[in-house]
Amino acid sequence: MNTNDIVTNGMGPELTGTTHQHGGRPVASENVSITAGPQGATVLNDIHLVEKLAHFNRERVPERNPHAKGHGAFGELHITHDVSAYTKAQLFQPNTVTPVAVRFSTVAGEQGSPDTWRDVHGFAVRFYTEEGNFDIVGNNTPTFFLRDGMKFPDFIHSQKRMGPTGLRSADAQWDFWTRTPESAHQVTYLMGDRGTPKTSRHQDGFGSHTFQWLNAKGEAFWVKYHFKTRQGWDCFTDEEAQEMAGKNADYQREDLFNAIERGDYPIWDVKVQIMPFAEAETYRYNPFDLTKTWSHKDYPLIDVGYFVLNRNPVNYFAQIEQLAFDPANLVPGVGLSPDRMLMARAFAYADAHRYRIGPNYRQLPVNQPVHPVNTYAHQGPMAYQFNPASAPVYTPNRFDKGAGYLDDGVSSNSGYGAADELFINPDPHGTDLGRAPYVAHPEDDDFGQAGILYREVMDDGAKDRLAHNITNAMVGVSPETEQRCYWYWDQVDPQLGAEVRKRFAAKK
Ligand code: HEM
Repeated sequence: MNTNDIVTNGMGPELTGTTHQHGGRPVASENVSITAGPQGATVLNDIHLVEKLAHFNRERVPERNPHAKGHGAFGELHITHDVSAYTKAQLFQPNTVTPVAVRFSTVAGEQGSPDTWRDVHGFAVRFYTEEGNFDIVGNNTPTFFLRDGMKFPDFIHSQKRMGPTGLRSADAQWDFWTRTPESAHQVTYLMGDRGTPKTSRHQDGFGSHTFQWLNAKGEAFWVKYHFKTRQGWDCFTDEEAQEMAGKNADYQREDLFNAIERGDYPIWDVKVQIMPFAEAETYRYNPFDLTKTWSHKDYPLIDVGYFVLNRNPVNYFAQIEQLAFDPANLVPGVGLSPDRMLMARAFAYADAHRYRIGPNYRQLPVNQPVHPVNTYAHQGPMAYQFNPASAPVYTPNRFDKGAGYLDDGVSSNSGYGAADELFINPDPHGTDLGRAPYVAHPEDDDFGQAGILYREVMDDGAKDRLAHNITNAMVGVSPETEQRCYWYWDQVDPQLGAEVRKRFAAKK
């Protein structure tokens, strides 16, 4: 799938002629409703009128809380340098080209609020990689106000409208910030030029957090992402920003759209700072504290490539409003870090999307990965994709649908190993994440106590009823599952296994 496929995925054909009711029937009139007589009541069985009004009432999904006001576009990431020593991620390998979606936003304002109100500006990037969607959901600042996700709802409450008045409150904002001293670095950015970028094109983006990279040898590195605008930095003064807020609330949305329409495609150079894994322990700032940067003298910027935005959305609602970014969208070779903000975010976004868009939001064209998704998840509101009829809906199973790459494919007692996809190991403080088997004591096994129950607790009548009930319940199993049932009951007790064989033969 290239960027063009992503931008047109889900788009209906261009139709002309008579319109249709949503069920496909031709519409009689888009202009005049049915009435009882020329001057009488509008009737409920004007089905098109009812459907049209009802659908109109459901045109909105809740706006994002926060980052409600935004705009976005699509393009491609090009990798021009070799960073394979640090990451095995497919999208970062030399000469790889990956479709991207980017959404720029403000934080505190509502959907219709001015783009140029002083605020931190969101800079969220999705890479549609061959290994799944990878999102870097950052800002135009390299830091943040907080270092613990516990405080995030309080922070946003202090910036948005107050309960009683429905007004934003300078007092609440400064009350929160001054009682949250770790905010000082970010508030300094916010009150400076970066709080009023002139356009989305004329600002840098940052992943802000420290993330992890993992190379093909399994070596881990800490990484910070920087997106450097090739358009040059440009900012409004406070007065200019306020004036533009009154003149054109959508100034930045319009600027990006028009630039792409006229072929003036904005480009950002992708650079990273890399910290060797062990240096995190002794670096002069805690590298997992989001209120801090890493000195560029200590960790200079390394070139990776660039991304260009060269396609406008075809439909703002379907492709930008429903674009569901998530810092937990990771791919092999990139990972999280012990940053507590990042770990809280790994929960928060998918949860927000399930509420705001619906639990099957990943099936929407703009949120689909470019490769088919093999999953046992099914059903739920607005389920659109479904598995072939032959596909099992549970795992483990006797079919070849598959399971996790650490699973042995036979039983659910597998999948042990490192918490591979998180990549935050080894933790120098001694608590690596992992997948350990349940701790077995000397007499633990799966069948022993079932055998004791059969041999030592059940009398002959209970044993008889047990074999009777098992074989009744087995009616309908496939020959393959039948053999597994015999193996299973043989493990519990060979006599029970034999009894099950004998009785089931009679019931088949
Ligand atoms: C624990 C801290 C945080 C929590 C719980 C949180 C939560 C959220 C939520 C619920 C949304 C709305 C998502 C949606 O409905 O689509 C959002 C949007 C966003 N957040 Fe955060 N956030 C946190 C910290 C941060 C940080 C540190 C950054 C940047 C470094 C950030 C950048 C963004 C951006 C850019 C968006 C808008 C994404 C888009 O364009 O759709 N957030 N956040």
